[in-house]
Amino acid sequence: MALAGTGVFAEILDGEVYRYYSDGEWRSSASGKSVAIVNPTTRKTQYRVQACTQEEVNKVMDEAKVAQKAWARTPLWKRAELLHKAAAILKEHKAPIAECLVKEIAKPAKDAVSEVVRSGDLVSYTAEEGVRILGEGKLLVSDSFPGNERNKYCLSSKIPLGVVLAIPPFNYPVNLAVSKIGPALIAGNALVLKPPTQGAVAALHMVHCFHLAGFPKGLISCVTGKGSEIGDFLTMHPGVNCISFTGGDTGISISKKAGMVPLQMELGGKDACIVLDDADLDLVAGNIVKGGFSYSGQRCTAVKVVLIMESIADAVVQKVNAKLAKLKVGPPEDDSDITPVVTESSANFIEGLVMDAKEKGATFCQEYRREGNLIWPLLLDHVRPDMRIAWEEPFGPVLPVIRINSVEEGIHHCNASNFGLQGCIFTRDINKAILISDAMETGTVQINSAPARGPDHFPFQGLKDSGIGSQGITNSINMMTKVKSTVINLPSPSYTMG
Ligand code: G3H
Repeated sequence: MALAGTGVFAEILDGEVYRYYSDGEWRSSASGKSVAIVNPTTRKTQYRVQACTQEEVNKVMDEAKVAQKAWARTPLWKRAELLHKAAAILKEHKAPIAECLVKEIAKPAKDAVSEVVRSGDLVSYTAEEGVRILGEGKLLVSDSFPGNERNKYCLSSKIPLGVVLAIPPFNYPVNLAVSKIGPALIAGNALVLKPPTQGAVAALHMVHCFHLAGFPKGLISCVTGKGSEIGDFLTMHPGVNCISFTGGDTGISISKKAGMVPLQMELGGKDACIVLDDADLDLVAGNIVKGGFSYSGQRCTAVKVVLIMESIADAVVQKVNAKLAKLKVGPPEDDSDITPVVTESSANFIEGLVMDAKEKGATFCQEYRREGNLIWPLLLDHVRPDMRIAWEEPFGPVLPVIRINSVEEGIHHCNASNFGLQGCIFTRDINKAILISDAMETGTVQINSAPARGPDHFPFQGLKDSGIGSQGITNSINMMTKVKSTVINLPSPSYTMG
């Protein structure tokens, strides 16, 4: 039974096209055009969204600027109250939003529901954290710096940046949207959301939950459309005071084009899993399968290369293969483990990496199989550094294994990557794990578990081409503020009385 676009969500739909959200209302674009969203499983148009114009973007930016001024003066506890309300509404409507995730991005049904619930929890936590950290400031006295008496008192607190532009990726169109929306709003900013094309309808439903919570009009907007028409126009818009982006290489070009605004960028990863010979092999195999193949490998934090000591490689490969054989491959509606990848071009790219590895002599642990966008899980053993898959990010259910003869070899491969998101180490020797962690040039190193962003309040950051800045609830709130100081200058040092 279709739930999307019905009930409380009926007003976000205009005939067959989902509306965009501007000035507190759901609207149809003056362009009269729409963008098709193709279901990765059926490869047919599932939904349509408005193709917004640059004039509509200008309007949204003007409204955001006005709404932000009033919002910044709204008491912090009231901002938090509204966020809690939005979080509850979001969770209450998890079914229709999850349905969109299943249809638009082929997210397995159970994972789709988890994404919405996780998002509600993230928004609530953000409200609580915001009240704590934004309710605090600093008092500095001048006589700690040489040459000064105690005649200056500096009061510093955090103020909002203005208008935050949020651009989440297709793989978490709800969760990675609210991870930007929540911090922006609690900190007193206005928010303009440009959802990914695939995932846009789930994001529009999520935005409606914020609408139902009663946020002031113009404070939150959501524009949809073609990147070629409004992509650069948005990221280079003079009304934008901060950009928070999650996605691929586009982030690098946005960083080059953006003006003097703070950037939060989470881009790709080639997360290495280094396995030492003293590791718990069952734990390793379980984490390789979960880390490498959940949501068909379409996570920036997926395990993307296994670097394993030769002495245990055969045993681990065997255990991983046994687990892969049990994965359910099929449509997301059936709650399959492996579902179709997001687009045909993505499937073609993955296939290109697989074929390159085949030509260069990698061992295929399973037969390579593809039907449409659905690619069966594949472990590629004996991968060598001259194969593209050793370095490139497939974003699909195919995982290379490189056999190593020393830990140094593993660290070297990990650090030679242009990415530096996360990495993981499996060993029972915690002292060695700490040494390896320090040597790995990645934003996070997981010891004895696969890479992951969550829990959502943990700091999350990438080095090199993997990103700029740090996310996680606290870091995102801080990033979306700046420090404002007021200095009280006394006519004489304050300790001269008495
Ligand atoms: O795809 C990028 C996400 O930030 C990964 O999040 O580790 O929760 O799957 P996750």
